[in-house]
Amino acid sequence: VAVDWDPAAASKGGHASFMVKEMLEQPEAVRRTIQDRIGIDGSVRLDGLGIEESTFARINKVVVVACGTASYGGQIAKYAIERWCRIPVEVDLAHEFRYRTPLLDARTLVVAISQSGETMDTLMAVRYAREQGAVVLSICNTQGSTIARESNGVLHTLAGPEIAVASTKAFLAQVTANLLLALYLAQFRGSALREETFAVAKELRRIPDLIQRTLDRAGRVNALAADLREATSVLFIGRHVGFPVALEGALKLKELAYIHAEGFAAGELKHGAIALIDQGQPVIVIVPSLRHSSLLHAKVMSTIQEVKARGGWVVAVADDGDGVVAEWADEVIAVPESSPLLAPLLTTVPLQLFAAGLAAEKGLDVDQPRNLAKSVTVE
Ligand code: AGP
Repeated sequence: VAVDWDPAAASKGGHASFMVKEMLEQPEAVRRTIQDRIGIDGSVRLDGLGIEESTFARINKVVVVACGTASYGGQIAKYAIERWCRIPVEVDLAHEFRYRTPLLDARTLVVAISQSGETMDTLMAVRYAREQGAVVLSICNTQGSTIARESNGVLHTLAGPEIAVASTKAFLAQVTANLLLALYLAQFRGSALREETFAVAKELRRIPDLIQRTLDRAGRVNALAADLREATSVLFIGRHVGFPVALEGALKLKELAYIHAEGFAAGELKHGAIALIDQGQPVIVIVPSLRHSSLLHAKVMSTIQEVKARGGWVVAVADDGDGVVAEWADEVIAVPESSPLLAPLLTTVPLQLFAAGLAAEKGLDVDQPRNLAKSVTVE
């Protein structure tokens, strides 16, 4: 009996693309990455890393190296590690890192983030860091990958295989692993914000359900994508961890929908890029939580007003509890409320859906965008 089915389509689980399937798997990707690593009391354990606790005890600097989406996850690690651990963190693009003679020694922890574990730029940065005597911990999604093997230790993200070229579930899993590392270092080394680290770790256990709730709101984002079908340029702005989220939103739109997009730090707009705003320019703004950070929220509201005053069309990604943003933004995409350092796990999701929605509007192949490879194995 001939069975009429296409194995590739079958492994998409009935979804239109691997990317859609992978976006929908995000709650599970994060849940698996957290599992067995956070106790019910909020204590974080990272067993089997391959690096001695005594090594973690003596580090005095962290340098994150990665490329593309993984590097935006690394920027979020900086906010978390510096706040909770009070250790200085630098974030470098892997291909810039080894050509600028960075200062490294045995007390430097180099964190190399890579979904594939095969990105040549990141691998060369790992080799360089080890030659200089630094300790290298990689955060990889692919077990047994070259970067994982060549590092002193590895913290695996457990997102499962990611087939689509554009990273979605691996990014959320990387952000989760970065937060786990920050929480682990803070709790193990003793943090002035010890209570906060336990509370946030407990909150992180509940995040997969909130990611699911965010995905359930896809209809509204798809309608927005349809409205912006003719857009030729979209700007993304954010502050604090909303800044790397803005960079990630812009990269997704470029990769998937071939639309010019740029991400900016909200405060940077007035230093030049605001000249780009004219009538109808779409600007997507990642709004910090009003309840958790009213100061940052006020700053972002004033940026929105500057954009509106020049004719920009503002879509705000803000939390459910924000009763202010609707007064200023043209559209609001609400996400569940969370503490500030966990917010990227939620605010990124509508930006992924938006880019995928626009690509679908344009009839593009989201799994294999033009000119791109899943893993960049050349320098
Ligand atoms: C993400 O959507 C991109 N395709 C790309 O930026 C990717 O994140 C980058 O090439 C790094 O890949 P890696 O995580 O496998 O090292």
